[in-house]
Amino acid sequence: MTSSSKIQILRTVQQVRQWRHQSLINNQSVGFVPTMGALHQGHCSLVAQSLKENDKTIVSIFVNPSQFAPHEDLNNYPRTLDRDLEILSNQFKNKSIDAIFVPKISEMYPNGIVLEVDKQRGTFVTVHGSSEQLEGVTRPQFFRGVATIVTKLLNIVQPTRVYFGQKDAQQCVVIKNLVKDLIIPTEVRVMPTLRESNGLAMSSRNEYLSKEIKDKSSIIYKALCNGENYYNDKIINHNQNSVDSKKIIKEIYDLIKQEPDFDIEYIAVSHPETLEDLDQVTPGLGAIVSCAVKVPKENSNEKARLIDNIILQ
Ligand code: PAJ
Repeated sequence: MTSSSKIQILRTVQQVRQWRHQSLINNQSVGFVPTMGALHQGHCSLVAQSLKENDKTIVSIFVNPSQFAPHEDLNNYPRTLDRDLEILSNQFKNKSIDAIFVPKISEMYPNGIVLEVDKQRGTFVTVHGSSEQLEGVTRPQFFRGVATIVTKLLNIVQPTRVYFGQKDAQQCVVIKNLVKDLIIPTEVRVMPTLRESNGLAMSSRNEYLSKEIKDKSSIIYKALCNGENYYNDKIINHNQNSVDSKKIIKEIYDLIKQEPDFDIEYIAVSHPETLEDLDQVTPGLGAIVSCAVKVPKENSNEKARLIDNIILQ
């Protein structure tokens, strides 16, 4: 039997509950990696970590409508299920994942789902305090959609541990708050951002970009590193107790601005737990430095929105 033939593809809530029940009886830990598919090595790093830390691993693939606004890219979001299944079957040599949950929309939203928030009916989860800033400014319904689907998925899978990527720093904060506030019995594990060799953070949305723009987009991470170097230099070589956030932001802004076709949406220096803006960064507490930049899409007049972040210690 090849490793791939052991992976169960589960399509209904009932099937996942049965699968989970079996691991409970066998006293096996379960690691869970929620995704929207179009899998890349960033997703795979979360899966690899789950395989290391748990007896069983389950991955979900579901493009969640409620986290897209009506004008956003739900219809065009890359859907590559066959390729995803192949990656999950063949990528992990030593230990195979156990199950993949690929639900239909009606399974996750029994009342149906429309994208206009004021027309939606049913139960939704809002994490007040960490959803409104940064990504929440231009995507006001995004974290409500994420928190809602992740709550549903956690209720279905009931994992011992659930895995998220630091790439989506605010999402990690929102989920940690959600799990804490709703007293959900799971451990949230956050894994480092995987990058292309030029530094560009891996993302399913990179599929919208030409090779040329992918190369140019590496400037985003270089700029974040400029900000980090500036901070480290002030703390280590100039013995400062703290560094002015505006100056860190300027280091980043000045480099990204060198790409005339890129639109900077925000660059922010935030408290690592509350995501409040910080005026000063102090060693020990540190900060999340994050940004969103719009870059030209391939064969289109539209722009793709890329996000990235680094952590200052
Ligand atoms: P998606 O964008 O598919 O990402 C799934 C997980 O992979 C997230 O935890 C994300 O942070 C992580 N990830 C993405 N790029 C990464 C990279 N370069 N390095 C490491 N991890 C990376 O995030 C979502 O889906 C959805 O919002 C979801 C949580 C599934 C809810 O619908």
